[in-house]
Amino acid sequence: MFLGWADAVRAQDATRGAQLYRALPGSPGVGSCVSCHGEPLNNRNSVLRGAVGGAWISRTIAAVSAMGYLRQFLSDADLADIATYLATVVPSAELETLPEPWPTFDDFGAQAVGTLAAERTLWLRNLQPRGELSIGSVVSTDPVVFPVQHECPLSLPPLGSCRVRTWFRPAAVGPAEARFDILAPGGQLLRSGRLLGTGAALQPPTLAWAPATELVDFGRVEVGRSAELRLQLHNPGGTAVALERLRSTGPQALRFVVSGECAAAGRIEAGARCEVTIAHSPRAAERAEGWVELASDAANAPLLRLQAIGVAAQVPPQSSASSPEQDAAGGGALSPWPLLGLGLSVLALRLGRVRRKPH
Ligand code: HEC
Repeated sequence: MFLGWADAVRAQDATRGAQLYRALPGSPGVGSCVSCHGEPLNNRNSVLRGAVGGAWISRTIAAVSAMGYLRQFLSDADLADIATYLATVVPSAELETLPEPWPTFDDFGAQAVGTLAAERTLWLRNLQPRGELSIGSVVSTDPVVFPVQHECPLSLPPLGSCRVRTWFRPAAVGPAEARFDILAPGGQLLRSGRLLGTGAALQPPTLAWAPATELVDFGRVEVGRSAELRLQLHNPGGTAVALERLRSTGPQALRFVVSGECAAAGRIEAGARCEVTIAHSPRAAERAEGWVELASDAANAPLLRLQAIGVAAQVPPQSSASSPEQDAAGGGALSPWPLLGLGLSVLALRLGRVRRKPH
């Protein structure tokens, strides 16, 4: 195939953009876009809007506090390359009419080479209230190390979900990764996600949630209020576990805050338990979902999904119309620029919480 000069330059930019999307230049330890947004095909947090250009990404970095640290790593030219890359990623249909994986990436943690980690489950969901969704297959890019098996019907009913079982059997010491692709009956790629794990020389200890659960459901929470749930992380084995990461993640990660002794500790001694507090503050009358991302040197990373339904407040909270933060935010939810409104209303929420204490 022939590429004109301009095409070649563009292709080069997109390739470089793809690399930057996955890893920040010269800073392998710091997560780039992929660490929060996952594969761009999934358009988590509307990342594909970045295709408009580097300037848009730059403004997003300034408005979304979680992304603020990126500015010091990426030049305008880098952001332009990432935008060029994002423009090459085209979902095969309207996103709502595609199966939604939950979560879109899952980390098995450490596992002894040659042994099989406990099975984990992902869900594929049809978010449409009416139409059915056709699912052909779910395949792993590395079926030996990360086998996957789905239990989905050929046609997923409206608002239905089906299970995808995943396993991890590391072949070598060190980090391992595979992509799982959800394909239509005709073979075209609908969505994808990532499976991660680490091969270890010896079988490391395991962690467990207490009480044992895979789902923390806040139920219905009034907008303007905050709900809190507590559970414990238990290390039943005879060796200490180093915790690298314990945080909420997923499309509405900002609406779930993970804190408590575990989050701060960095380590759970043999036989010990530590407490994890998960707080949820709905921003609107809508569903919020996420999961707790747990990275440690334990053999497993027990999955914990988070869900809540925001419901309209009975009496609208007074502060929403008159607080100075909200005025400064350009009217919060009424902002003509939804992202800025969102970023700042999250900020206002935070300030709100800090403000409440001294009273
Ligand atoms: C630490 C997590 C994190 C990282 C890393 C991150 N983002 Fe984001 N990004 C977010 C969150 C959270 C939102 C959604 C903000 C919201 O909904 O309030 C977002 C939103 C966006 C949006 C949508 C803006 C809009 O118009 O709605 C774009 C585009 C985007 N990010 C691009 C990027 C790019 C490009 C990178 C890498 C250079 C990146 N992000 C890295 C967390 C992250």
